[in-house]
This record gives sequence, C-alpha cells and structure tokens, in this order.
Amino acid sequence: MSSSSRTRGARGGDPVSNARRGRFITLEGPDGSGKTTAARHLAEWLRSRAEPTVLTGEPGGTPLGEEVRRLVLHERDVSDDLDPRADALLFAAARAQHTARVIEPALQRGDNVVCARYLDSSLAYQGAAYGIDADEIRQLQRFATYDTLPDMTILVDVPVQVGLARKRRGQWNRFEDTEGERFFEAVRTAYLALAEAEPERYRVVDGSGSVDATDATIRAAVEPLVFGQSRPT
Ligand code: TYD
Repeated sequence: MSSSSRTRGARGGDPVSNARRGRFITLEGPDGSGKTTAARHLAEWLRSRAEPTVLTGEPGGTPLGEEVRRLVLHERDVSDDLDPRADALLFAAARAQHTARVIEPALQRGDNVVCARYLDSSLAYQGAAYGIDADEIRQLQRFATYDTLPDMTILVDVPVQVGLARKRRGQWNRFEDTEGERFFEAVRTAYLALAEAEPERYRVVDGSGSVDATDATIRAAVEPLVFGQSRPT
C-alpha cells in the first residue's frame, strides 16, 4: 500500500500519542430487537460516567452511508431488484467509509464507539439469510473494515415474531414485505451461531423483556470492558 493511499485509509493520519485507544462496542440483532434504543442508552450511560463516546450505526453514519441506507432500504425501485452481491457491496462500501472516517478516528483519539450494526449484520443477512458464501462475505468484511473489529458485540436476541411486531410500527423497509418469517429465522439462527463461535467477543442479551432490563444487562456486560482494571474510572 502506498503511503498516500495509507493516509487516506482507516488507520491513516497522525496517531494521537497519549490517548489510549477507545473501546469499540457493536450491537446486533434481528429486526425489531431494540438494539438502536439499547445503543443510545448505552452511549448515554458511558457519557454520564465521563467516558467520551461516539454513538453511530449502520447502514449510515456518514453522508455516503445515509445515501446507501436510503437506496437499499427505502427506495423500492432499487431494492425490489437488488442483486445479492450488489447489495453486499453497497453495505460494504458504506461500512468502509464509516470505518475510515468515523469509527477508526474516534477509537484513535481515545473515544469509545457504540455502533448499532456492523460487520456481523452482513454475515447474518447477506451471508446466512441471502446465501452468499460465508468465506466470501468474511473476506469482503475484512476489506471493508480495514480489520477494525469490535472489542465486544452485544447480540440483542428476540424471537422473530416479537421483533417483527415491533418493527411494523416503524418506517417501512424492504425486508418487511419481501421477506417472510423464514428469512428472519435464518437471521436469528445465524446470529446465535456467530455468538456461539466467538464467546470472547459476543454477549447474548435477552431483548424480549423491558427496556430497563435490557439496558441493565448490557451495562453489566460492558462495565468490565470499559472500566476494567487496565482502565480505571
Ligand atoms: P434499520 O431500520 O436500521 O433496522 P434496525 O433498527 O433493525 O437496525 O434497518 C437495517 C436493515 O438493514 C436491517 O433489516 C438489516 C439490514 N442490513 C443488512 O442487511 N446488512 C448490513 O450490513 C446492515 C448494516 C444492515
């Protein structure tokens, strides 16, 4: 990689000498699991404990990401006929921009990053549910994320019916009328398998109870990572 392309990449720029690297926490889960609310509450809690924290989410987080979000989720002319690989590449393009311009710079200056959805969403949706080969989708994620991996991933797990009932109250997105329950079961099963395969990174939290209960379980999981012995409060 040339030095000029490197400075434009995720790890480019001047390292901030005295700042310790922030913690990168992602929240994942099937549609309607409540991870967006949980992410917001987690970020507010960290800030209330004097931890500088960036709250973000995918698809989105940058102007390009918001545009991809609009195209792939809310623009019927585009999403009705989206090829699975084109879909995967669009999410990946948005992710690369997000990692390079928002996530990695924040971590480097010592901020924590709380992100609703990240690479595991592509493994679960574009990989398991849409059937793109797992190794290929992983390779694409390595490319898109510059190998910036979460320190912890919270899987907010809910039964598919619970999630879909919650979702129907929100803004329409393409998944809701093109995909049936089996699709969302595949997503949920994929997430649970990912969590089982990487227990050091993943924490599975039951999202079917109250918001307060979910928040409390997530805080308990995150506390040792952010406020552990190496990082006194
Ligand atoms: P969104 O409205 O943000 O839903 P949620 O609140 O459940 O996160 O829509 C995100 C949708 O985009 C969701 O159905 C999953 C899908 N998605 C992918 O298929 N792949 C991805 O890489 C990402 C980030 C999202």
